[in-house]
Amino acid sequence: MDEIPVPTPSVEKKKEVIHTVMDDFPADWPMQNGTVGIFFLPYFILADVLNSESSFQVPSGWNNISDQNQTDHNLDIHFEATMKPCNERKKPLHEKVAIVTGSTYGIGFAIARRLAQDGAHVLLCSRKQHNVDKAAEQLKGEGLSVYAMVCHVGNKEDREKLVATAIEVFGKIDILVCNAAVNPFIGPIFDTTEDMWTKVFHINVISTFFMIKLVVPHMQKQGGGSIILCSSFLGYIPQPPLGPYAITKTTLLGLTNVLATALRCMNIRVNGLALGLINTSFSKVMRKTPEFESKWNAVGVNRLGEPEECAGIASFLCSDDASYINGENIAVAGGMQGRL
Ligand SMILES: NC(=O)c1ccc[n+]([C@@H]2O[C@H](COP(=O)([O-])OP(=O)(O)OC[C@H]3O[C@@H](n4cnc5c(N)ncnc54)[C@H](OP(=O)(O)O)[C@@H]3O)[C@@H](O)[C@H]2O)c1
Repeated sequence: MDEIPVPTPSVEKKKEVIHTVMDDFPADWPMQNGTVGIFFLPYFILADVLNSESSFQVPSGWNNISDQNQTDHNLDIHFEATMKPCNERKKPLHEKVAIVTGSTYGIGFAIARRLAQDGAHVLLCSRKQHNVDKAAEQLKGEGLSVYAMVCHVGNKEDREKLVATAIEVFGKIDILVCNAAVNPFIGPIFDTTEDMWTKVFHINVISTFFMIKLVVPHMQKQGGGSIILCSSFLGYIPQPPLGPYAITKTTLLGLTNVLATALRCMNIRVNGLALGLINTSFSKVMRKTPEFESKWNAVGVNRLGEPEECAGIASFLCSDDASYINGENIAVAGGMQGRL
């Protein structure tokens, strides 16, 4: 990945920003203005503290992190937010290019379809050629701009081919939705094998990260992008009988935060969806088990979600309407708690 140039921190600049606000008020303003002034006193005290050089110093061990993420740098980035009249507004993802992994049926398919309906050119993919053909035929039949190919996300060559194809066919990549995942085991955690742990972490976490790593240089080159990680409400309540799978989803909650911080200076936003129990073939297997039945009853949500109910929020997060939303994991879970 190319090195990112990061400007050096400027204490003066920060002081300048605070001064522009505070210089409008004389130091004795709270005293002169009676009750109203006393109300504002804490703000004056805080401003005074911030205005001293020491408040911008960080422990020496934190210098690198501070250099990369210091807010001075971000203050210099101005996003052009324009409010156009309704009749002049284009579709929210007009001419964007999106890759959605695991998008030939289920939630990934619904997201791919919605992104295309909202104006994006979408690269569909999954492991099996017949699923790829079927999904492409359906969406092309709906008049949507899609290209489809086989890609097993656990396979490095497949991932590289996917990214190369997006560039070859569409010329750029604006959006990546990491949706593909597996769950190789349901049952007591001590019945799991090392192979199961390796597989579930390899597909759900490691392949997700390396897929993102391949896409980032392309987003950086064009000045930004949006990435979505499909996590789960189980990431917040990782418990048997889906222990290893749930733990991979907890990991994705963390990965969202780490990547959002690492990539924000490139104008690449990373957000996550903590999905609830959605009506797909994937959840059908879990729903059949008696252990799951009792847990499900305990969380008290009255119905399954539909894949289409996960698609609008994905499109929104990828659009410029969400340009100031970064590092969030949004629960799409019918009221189940989305907190660790
Ligand atoms: N359904 C739920 O209740 C629920 C709840 C929380 C989170 N989620 C998450 O939502 C995402 C989608 O789940 P879903 O319910 O839509 O699953 P699904 O119905 O089983 O669909 C999975 C999709 O991914 C593809 N796929 C599977 N393994 C793949 C791999 N290794 N590489 C590339 N493509 C692969 C499948 O096509 P092929 O078979 O052709 O590969 C299919 O297109 C997953 O990340 C899942 O963890 C689901």
